[in-house]
Amino acid sequence: MPDITESRRITRHRPEDFEGMRAAGRLVAEALDMITAHVQPGVTTAALDRLCHDFVRDHGAIPASLGYQGYRHATCISPNHVVCHGIPGDRRLAEGDIVNIDLAVIVAGWHGDSSRMYGVGPVGTLAQRLMDVTHEAMMRGIAAIRPGATVGDIGHAMQRHVEAERFSVVREFCGHGLGRTYHAAPDVPNYGRPGEGAVLRPGMFLTVEPMVNAGRPAVKVLADGWTAVTRDRSLSAQFEHSVGVTETGVEIFTSSPAGYTRPPYG
Ligand code: MF3
Ligand code: CO
Repeated sequence: MPDITESRRITRHRPEDFEGMRAAGRLVAEALDMITAHVQPGVTTAALDRLCHDFVRDHGAIPASLGYQGYRHATCISPNHVVCHGIPGDRRLAEGDIVNIDLAVIVAGWHGDSSRMYGVGPVGTLAQRLMDVTHEAMMRGIAAIRPGATVGDIGHAMQRHVEAERFSVVREFCGHGLGRTYHAAPDVPNYGRPGEGAVLRPGMFLTVEPMVNAGRPAVKVLADGWTAVTRDRSLSAQFEHSVGVTETGVEIFTSSPAGYTRPPYG
């Protein structure tokens, strides 16, 4: 569960550190662009992971999740009712599936962390609406970021939109600070109340990564210790950007160079 009192110190980075985050963010976004054409019926999630891994290595960078708390893959790949932390493997994607691919990279010591939803061929109306609402929630959360705002303002903006659409936000996982480390203070919950929690200041680097369920918010983690699924087996979606707080607002580090904002892409 997130710590909404947040007593940990939050790093404020220098203007030149934004350059490091731009480079890391660009690479992860390019990888998520690259994988788009490969998300097709019949592909295994392990094959998608390998393509991302090779892309990152070929660009002289390292997947941040390799060896992270014992995790052994470059990506987390989470189809349908998998909320997050799906482990790449032999599972073959099928037409109509929706799937989140989450990738974090280290470029010259800086972390870029992003995820997107992909549709496998045409998807159903509910699946499409869930992805649209989740993307819009992320963008509304990001739009709440400016010096003096709080992490509660971010969570509130996301929760309000999601619940107005009759979907639910997951409580057990949240966004986070990042920079020279992968997961740092503060926690960035996907729900909250205006004015609550850590105050945002220029130079803070964060992720905004709402997880939205079509049904109830409850999740459970499978016996593998990683895979989180909806308890009611309803569909779940997530998008994630890495951002920096600027003097006047916010800068997104992981925007798609190809212009792939939300599915269907291209
Ligand atoms: N990429 C996830 C995040 O957005 C964390 C995954 S941890 C891993 O923070 F070890 F599973 F990769
Ligand atoms: Co993250």
